[in-house]
Amino acid sequence: MFSEPLTIADLKKRAKWRVPKMFYDYADSGAWTESTYRANETDFARINLRQRVLVDMTDRSLETTMIGRKVSMPVALAPTGLCGMQHADGEILAAQAAEEAGVPFTLSTMSVCSIEDVAEHTKEPFWFQLYVMKDRGFVGDLIDRAKAANCGALVLTLDLQILGQRHKDLVNGLSTPPKFTPKHVWQVGTRPFWALEMLQTKRRTFRNIVGHAPASSDLSSLAVWTAEQFDPKLSWADVDWIKERWGGPLILKGVLDAEDAKMAAKTGADAIIVSNHGGRQLDGARSSISVLPEIVDAVQGDIEIHMDGGIRSGQDVLKARALGAKGTYIGRPYLYGLGAMGKKGVTRALDIIRKELDVTMALCGKRDIEEIDREIIAKVGF
Ligand code: GLV
Repeated sequence: MFSEPLTIADLKKRAKWRVPKMFYDYADSGAWTESTYRANETDFARINLRQRVLVDMTDRSLETTMIGRKVSMPVALAPTGLCGMQHADGEILAAQAAEEAGVPFTLSTMSVCSIEDVAEHTKEPFWFQLYVMKDRGFVGDLIDRAKAANCGALVLTLDLQILGQRHKDLVNGLSTPPKFTPKHVWQVGTRPFWALEMLQTKRRTFRNIVGHAPASSDLSSLAVWTAEQFDPKLSWADVDWIKERWGGPLILKGVLDAEDAKMAAKTGADAIIVSNHGGRQLDGARSSISVLPEIVDAVQGDIEIHMDGGIRSGQDVLKARALGAKGTYIGRPYLYGLGAMGKKGVTRALDIIRKELDVTMALCGKRDIEEIDREIIAKVGF
């Protein structure tokens, strides 16, 4: 029915066919009109590369580092909520695929599989993304649990003090409390492969939270507790105590403004991620790739710079690297792979990106990712 997936778009088509609509839409949608979500993708297409010829293209290398960790290419798996609803045991499978590919996996606070569970099923330290909840005791415990699980970095999300309005989730009833309606039964019933796999796992709720928060363990009260817990008062002062309590490599995610980047650099964190949360928070914000050069000009040398948002190919990774991102993150591309084919699909997504990155780099006349800079860009159309 489907031919071999050659692009991330091919994986997306398969995921849509396999994953119940409410969960597919949760991963795929942006906030409000989705203009920022679209701009993240389309702005990459407005960058032209310089084609170079007759340079030696043998022995190419994509290897580099992100916050000092060796990576086989400058790509990490981004933290994504409810990853384990794209496929049963999704976070474990994705973390294993990332480990085999030599790139970091970032586990979300809002994951289905817990920190301990992912640690038990992987060998390499993964990274942990932290949401700051009003219940600071719970946040402190999460940090300690990430430490105990030997996580390699804490990725602190700065841009979700309140939740952006995602219309598809509201229409689908993926709300708090969740409403289980005949529509949901239909959506699950028409995705039998997904449902059969899901029946075989016990991991079907927010397992970082269940048993650790005051809310009782049923999904509805957990979801209500969580939604009320995002803290609108989160401030730069919180970054200091979190950094202190964690004591390891810290990455600040969700910076989209040069002034904020300067503030972030002053915290002594190890890296920032230039990000608009995949277009899921402030609709109308600029695309991550269009802001990246300004942020690089403002803080390069003071803090390592990463980016996410809109990467759908290895060519996008190369463009981000050329504009100054030492590392990039993919969210939806690996979720499409996971939804489409489980662990194999995540591996496929990473292979697709690696191949495109390698071929594009070669055709730009470069052999080493470390040599990539603005020199390979012919024109930026934004
Ligand atoms: C969580 O990070 C979300 O964007 O839904």
